[in-house]
Amino acid sequence: MIQSLMKQLPVSVPVEPLLQVRDLSLLYGPEKGCQGVSFDLYPGEVLGIVGESGSGKSTLLSLLSGRLPPQAGSISYRGKDQQWLDLYSASEAQRRTLLRTEWGFVEQNPRDGLRMGVSAGANIGERLMAQGVRNYQQLRGAGLDWLNQVEIDPLRIDDLPRTFSGGMQQRLQIARNLVSSPRLVFMDEPTGGLDVSVQARLLDLLRGLVRELDLAVVIVTHDLAVARLLADRLMVMRRSRVVETGLTDQILDDPQHPYSQLLVSSVLQP
Ligand SMILES: Nc1ncnc2c1ncn2[C@@H]1O[C@H](COP(=O)(O)OP(=O)(O)OP(=O)(O)O)[C@@H](O)[C@H]1O
Ligand SMILES: [Mg+2]
Repeated sequence: MIQSLMKQLPVSVPVEPLLQVRDLSLLYGPEKGCQGVSFDLYPGEVLGIVGESGSGKSTLLSLLSGRLPPQAGSISYRGKDQQWLDLYSASEAQRRTLLRTEWGFVEQNPRDGLRMGVSAGANIGERLMAQGVRNYQQLRGAGLDWLNQVEIDPLRIDDLPRTFSGGMQQRLQIARNLVSSPRLVFMDEPTGGLDVSVQARLLDLLRGLVRELDLAVVIVTHDLAVARLLADRLMVMRRSRVVETGLTDQILDDPQHPYSQLLVSSVLQP
């Protein structure tokens, strides 16, 4: 009786964030880089980072993903085991393991995120192997399945990525990242180098996958249409600082900071 009652009660336990970022800074010069950045990211949440060229978006993403050490600040990540890990006091090996397992990183240029000398199937299987999967059939099966999911003909499984178009390479990079069931994926302008029609298809695909897999994503883009389509929440950066943060629709429809207003209006009136 009590048990069935309890089941009907709304969940009162607040969801804990996945990532806690506090006062993160790395400056290459005055207002070059990023400074004083703090936020929480929750499971399944998509956070967009927008702002003009040079505002510090990529620097922030490199800090968040542990690829660069900050000059100040901290990042805590709550792992699958529910333990909090202080990213910068973790060892290099721990950070690398995270990036291969629970995290993913989709580079703007797929050539930076793929191994161009090995087949599409091997690109997908690699992260599974890093997690200890050795069974050939299982690796092959996952490769075929993921090619299918990112709309690449599975018959191309033994082909090298260099024989793929830019859009296909980007989809392969996404498959390679998602095969290991990450919880958090970083993306830096994932549609940046692609034709508009290819971009639209990739965005549709990404949107579906993010929802289906309940992924938390931090995505850098200077394209507000991409932000609108994918992000739940936005951070607007200017000259190394976050000038505004809020729900995507709120920021795009009713920006408060003068710079956000400029950013939004300059896109509406090209
Ligand atoms: N390794 C570095 N050494 C020196 N300066 C750097 C370095 N990396 C970035 N910067 C500078 O820091 C500032 C922020 O760069 P960042 O690449 O983070 O900007 P961004 O917002 O990603 O720009 P874009 O939209 O053009 O990619 C820029 O002025 C850049 O020149
Ligand atoms: Mg950048």
